[in-house]
Amino acid sequence: MDKIVIEIKNLHYSYPDGTKALSGIDLEVFEGESLGIIGSNGSGKSTLLLHLNGILRGTSDVKILGRDVTDKNLPLIRRSVGLIFQDPENQLFMPTVFDDVGFGPMNMGLKKEKVEDAVNRALEEVDMLPFLKRSPHHLSVGEKKRVAIATVLSMEPEILVLDEPSSNLDPKHRREFIGLLQKLQLTKIIATHDLDLVMETCSRIALLDEGRIVAVGKTADILQNRLLLEDYGMIARSP
Ligand SMILES: Nc1ncnc2c1ncn2[C@@H]1O[C@H](COP(=O)(O)OP(=O)(O)OP(=O)(O)O)[C@@H](O)[C@H]1O
Ligand SMILES: [Mg+2]
Repeated sequence: MDKIVIEIKNLHYSYPDGTKALSGIDLEVFEGESLGIIGSNGSGKSTLLLHLNGILRGTSDVKILGRDVTDKNLPLIRRSVGLIFQDPENQLFMPTVFDDVGFGPMNMGLKKEKVEDAVNRALEEVDMLPFLKRSPHHLSVGEKKRVAIATVLSMEPEILVLDEPSSNLDPKHRREFIGLLQKLQLTKIIATHDLDLVMETCSRIALLDEGRIVAVGKTADILQNRLLLEDYGMIARSP
């Protein structure tokens, strides 16, 4: 039996304004798998992902790498689970690209050369090395997206959680990014509307609707189920 790295039981979450975003999520993620989370706008994908490294905490039993999400365990969970936000603006806050990508490794107490190595490698992976000294705020949206991905890769996490990673990437960089995801051997959880990306990178899919998982299964089985995808707004209804 494959090792379970994330275990969620009956997760409910409402935002402070009362909006109910998750209504009883049960989900297991297995070590080394790549799980796609799909669902229409507002179905709860981002909210679910924000629970995977303790940014949000709902009422439920969430275990990450065998640990409860408690204040004590948070530093370790945050180091092991790299989360790429849907909006790169939420990930970039330092004066230079170097500082942003090096922020995690620096905070882990790595020596200067090690931090530089980690930054160079991560930026190389997303084809952004020439932007090292630039200000993240003055990059294009797609460039920001790629730097945001590098900020997480530089930490060499055990679990990579990506929210709409391919949005705003041009075809060349989207292709390269899919290649990168296919190469990375860690556990991946990818929330997206990009069904091609899911098909090429994920072995399993969970389909969300109104804060509930309405289907979970092998990628091929879910993506071949046209009626299911139509019903939940993932593809246009055929005439
Ligand atoms: N900060 C917030 N405060 C109040 N409600 C929120 C907040 N963020 C999200 N919501 C609501 O929670 C629900 C789930 O939103 P969420 O962002 O998780 O959906 P999503 O599946 O990621 O959508 P999208 O495909 O548009 O990214 C929606 O009804 C949304 O309006
Ligand atoms: Mg979202």
